Amino acid sequence: MSIHQPLNTLRAEIRRHTHADEAICVERLLRESSLNKVQRERIVSRGRMLVAGCREDSDKSGMLDRFMQQYSLSSKEGVAMMCLAESLLRVPDAETADDLIAEKILSGAWSEHLGQSDSMFVNASTWGLMLTGRVVNLESEITEGTDTWMKKLVNRLGEPVVRAAVRQAMKIMGQQYVLGRNVEDALERGHKENARGTRFSFDMLGEGARTMQDADRYFDAYMQAIREIGKRENIDNVIAANGISIKLSALHPRYHCVQKPRVMSEMLPRIRELALEAKKFDLGFTIDAEEAHRLVISMDIFESLARDPDLMGWDGLGFVLQAYDKRSPLVALWLAELGRDADRKLMVRLVKGAYWDSEIKFAQQEGYADYPVYTRKANTDLCYQVCAARLLAAQDVIYPQFATHNALTAALILELGKGKQYEFQRLHGMGDLLHMQLAKGTGSPPAPVRVYAPVGAHKDLLPYLVRRLLENGANSSFVNRFLDNKVPITQIATDVQAEVEISETHRHAAIPLPVDILRAAGDERPDTHGIDLANTDAAAELLSVVVPMASRFWASGPIIGGVLNTDDGDPVVCPADTRKLVGTCRKASPDEVSKALDLADTAQPAWDALGGEARAVILERAAEIMKSRMHELTGLLAFEAGRTLNDGVSEVREAV
Ligand code: FAD
Ligand code: 2OP
Repeated sequence: MSIHQPLNTLRAEIRRHTHADEAICVERLLRESSLNKVQRERIVSRGRMLVAGCREDSDKSGMLDRFMQQYSLSSKEGVAMMCLAESLLRVPDAETADDLIAEKILSGAWSEHLGQSDSMFVNASTWGLMLTGRVVNLESEITEGTDTWMKKLVNRLGEPVVRAAVRQAMKIMGQQYVLGRNVEDALERGHKENARGTRFSFDMLGEGARTMQDADRYFDAYMQAIREIGKRENIDNVIAANGISIKLSALHPRYHCVQKPRVMSEMLPRIRELALEAKKFDLGFTIDAEEAHRLVISMDIFESLARDPDLMGWDGLGFVLQAYDKRSPLVALWLAELGRDADRKLMVRLVKGAYWDSEIKFAQQEGYADYPVYTRKANTDLCYQVCAARLLAAQDVIYPQFATHNALTAALILELGKGKQYEFQRLHGMGDLLHMQLAKGTGSPPAPVRVYAPVGAHKDLLPYLVRRLLENGANSSFVNRFLDNKVPITQIATDVQAEVEISETHRHAAIPLPVDILRAAGDERPDTHGIDLANTDAAAELLSVVVPMASRFWASGPIIGGVLNTDDGDPVVCPADTRKLVGTCRKASPDEVSKALDLADTAQPAWDALGGEARAVILERAAEIMKSRMHELTGLLAFEAGRTLNDGVSEVREAV
């Protein structure tokens, strides 16, 4: 067996688990869970103590309170103002936003420009909870009569004050999640607002580049940030030094598995350039985890960096593992094997994953066999435990970084990590209370803490902000409930394993498989399976049919009375390469059309007499035939109509 065998075997396993059955995955997690009863009890009781401590210490006079005091706003008005400000953040440029504020305040017509008022206020309770620690309900007077409410506010406070307040609300929103506009400001503020010894991983806002210009802009921002951080760093130890977090989707508009050749030839050299710069300053350089369909390509990139001779002797290369992904325990093993095989140390940040809602929606849209992520929160928590144990068991090659705002998860890590080297991580603007609790008593936290610190402009904040709003707003989230005194602490911190074990089904009963979503909505039809082109096995299977089709020749023509006539067809060329003749198409003549219509007319009474049921059976058979020939039809769509394979698959599914 070659030395690479274990890595290849793991890769194949990882591919096989992309949309694995949740019950099988969870049973495996339960078998692997190594905590005994005493440990589990200790974790729960420590988690509960941490929550109780957070509740005692929660400072009700938060940022929003000060804001409201400054502008004499009630808490409802303050929260409503945050919602308006959030809508304004969606206005792409600052000048338009400013004009809108001025104009709308004067005319009072907010709702017309900022969309429907109910969608404008959709995050109100989240803002209330996040910024005051209390539940704040907005009455219909505000949500439905926004314009009148605003006019009254302007009459009461005066237009300049309201304008200033809206601008301030936008600024607060930015400050809550963004540490600074540039690294210099962020470092200054970061050190002022955090305990001594706090480390940072700076994240330059921006992701999902749509054009090469965007990608260039983000690349420059990362490069400049690495140099700024490096210049200011006086710690000669990559673990204790500040670092940077990179979103690969910011660096190339074609960052997809199906574009692997371009990713490896165009994108990888750019990432390598950034990594070399980080190595020069001996900084941590962590590749953030994004959507599940990008996992495999991110592993390809990471492996290439990990094996790069010019990047050897540097312990700062980092990967992010999402525990909600069913493949994560295997990826944890792969990372450890990679470290050993490449003979280097790696940093690995373990998170639960910030894209859950979109993963569920995407898998449904694409008709995948199952979800790439767990559908019960407790399953993700259990997977976090298994991954944490796997990472901690590989201290020879992995420096684990546990990113969480959940007190129970922190308690788990304290239990699993005894005597091991690791750090905690939290996001700027979140988790402060928990980490203050962890530091209590001894005055210093039980493990070093790193703050993930977004840096940049408001216009690039939105996707990050939306993920934080989802995280803060979801009632399954720890941060959504832990300060709410109405929720008993015993409900906030419970034994994860017991919770998983008592579930009747491991997959959430209210989340049907992607293929069953039509049925779940009362339709009798199943949906049609799509093909996950990010899975190289599935893509290879499709290509094995499509590629040989390049030399095939089709002759098509009208079928009249069951007889196909392809004589004297016009040539059909591939729109993507007009030199390629795909085949011929004979168009029906007016006589043939008349004949076809006559035959149809004659056949109609018999067809009608069949009845709906029997006709449906025939249509369903046609659908089944199309389904069974999906690969071939997708190929035909590519050659004849110039469709991408992805579009072709969607087209066939739609026809079915
Ligand atoms: P918890 O409240 O315990 O967990 C919430 C999480 O549980 C959700 O986010 C989701 O992952 C999971 N979940 C919720 N409902 C369900 C359900 N029904 N079924 C299954 N799972 C469910 N995220 C990334 O994706 N990529 C990153 O690179 C990344 N970097 C981060 C860096 C830092 C320093 C931190 C603190 C977080 C980072 N995150 C990243 C975000 C992280 O994924 C979320 O903050 C995290 O999921 C919240 O977990 P928690 O343990 O704090 O909270
Ligand atoms: C996100 O961008 C923190 O990386 C995580 O949501």
